[in-house]
Amino acid sequence: MLLDNHGRTINYLRLAVTDRCNLRCFYCMPEEGLNWLSRKELMTYEEMLQICSLLVKMGIDKIRITGGEPFVRKDIMRFLTSLSELKGLNELNITTNGVLTAPHIPELKAIGVNSINLSLDTLDANRFFSITGRDEFSNVIETLENCLKNDIEVKINAVVMDGKNTQDIIPLVQLTKDLPVSVRFIEEMPFNGDGHIYNGLKWDYLRILEEIKDKCPDLQKVPDALYSTSYNYKIPGHKGSIGIIAAYSRTFCGTCNRVRITPVGELKTCLYDNGILNIKDLIRQGINEDDLRQILLKTFNQRAKDGWEAERLRKESTGIHESMATIGG
Ligand code: 5AD
Ligand code: SF4
Repeated sequence: MLLDNHGRTINYLRLAVTDRCNLRCFYCMPEEGLNWLSRKELMTYEEMLQICSLLVKMGIDKIRITGGEPFVRKDIMRFLTSLSELKGLNELNITTNGVLTAPHIPELKAIGVNSINLSLDTLDANRFFSITGRDEFSNVIETLENCLKNDIEVKINAVVMDGKNTQDIIPLVQLTKDLPVSVRFIEEMPFNGDGHIYNGLKWDYLRILEEIKDKCPDLQKVPDALYSTSYNYKIPGHKGSIGIIAAYSRTFCGTCNRVRITPVGELKTCLYDNGILNIKDLIRQGINEDDLRQILLKTFNQRAKDGWEAERLRKESTGIHESMATIGG
């Protein structure tokens, strides 16, 4: 078992396979997009597979593929298939915006992907356009339907933004009445690639909870799973469930079991740090597996105790400017 310097288990890797995206979510990137990384800067699939294979040998048993949007990267299914064959990997999940995902769902199920996180912040097509800058609502809904048809568990991620989609909180909660989905409301974080000025958190997890309780007084707390980042609830008689993720308030750092690798191969041991070690560079310099293992162990032994400390220790003290698309969420 892989442990960090605070006694926390590390068994979960979030791997961002691209910084590119076909949406322009208000909370994630500016309307013109980012300065996309060049092919050379990105890790190749072979490099990613090599890193994942080592990490799985070291104790990682769950991998989530993120981006950017994973399905805009060429040949992503080929990579996912090889990854799914790693011995010791128990869970392979994907976070996607659902724009290009629908046709791949049966094949994803066939290679053993059992859970998908779908980013969807509203059930209104016009507001979808105003939040994401693209007219793709119907494709996202098709992805949702295909997941349900193919028996893939769906978690809907909705970022709660003051003045943008708070009127969607209750309709999204109501979606759990007939659909066996988990709808998770996420506090907005500053990772927006300078798309807009982050003026502090207006809707924290307590306010989101109050809003739901106010309109749905029969809301019940349900137990949170081990390592869960969400506070979980249910409405009696509803097929789905509701979660609230205190992504900005950072209430769950004490049990954090995850590390991240960005599309350029930067290892992050906390979402709020800005890169601890570039693994891709080490691989391109020809490092052998044993040496890489030792460096990784040392890095896992120097983790910040929580997201507040990680933010303080950032290499540049200029604050958070990067887009979530360069980190993977
Ligand atoms: N704040 C909170 N969540 C964000 N995401 C992207 N940017 C932000 C942000 N600034 C979420 C999206 C997506 C996941 C990968 O990260 O909802 O589901
Ligand atoms: Fe794309 Fe996800 Fe960022 Fe939206 S949040 S722009 S879907 S990477």
